[in-house]
Amino acid sequence: MLDSEPGRGVPTRRRVLIGSCALGAVAAIAACGGEKPKAAPGGPGGGDQAAAPAPSQVLRPGDIPVGGGVILGDQDTVVTQPQPGQFRAFSATCTHLGCQVERVSDGTIKCPCHGSQYSVADGSVVHGPAPKPLPAKTVTLNNGALTIS
Ligand code: FES
Repeated sequence: MLDSEPGRGVPTRRRVLIGSCALGAVAAIAACGGEKPKAAPGGPGGGDQAAAPAPSQVLRPGDIPVGGGVILGDQDTVVTQPQPGQFRAFSATCTHLGCQVERVSDGTIKCPCHGSQYSVADGSVVHGPAPKPLPAKTVTLNNGALTIS
């Protein structure tokens, strides 16, 4: 409830702003809380993109579908497995205008913004308008865990 200036019965501008911010913060918290991550299209059960493991989880070879990949958005990384036991990692930022790639399917990494597609094998541009490949990252397998650097 908003307070009024003494004797006027009308909320002050300052109090209206404070009230709006408080309501906005509550709405933001409500919107964030309780929302479950959406399953990736083509995720487990069909397709060639698996759901990304939670950030605290170790990424294991079995998490990466052969011929597909996993997007680790919080790490700006897409990890692919073009052939069994062959792992590749790239930046998840499209080289066109900087959108984050969204899906991995049919052997390509897809940007949702303007349709660019990159090869899961080497990050090269398969379909523009992206002007250059996704920058490669180093992926290593140690003791059953994949590490990206
Ligand atoms: Fe990815 Fe334009 S930003 S295609």
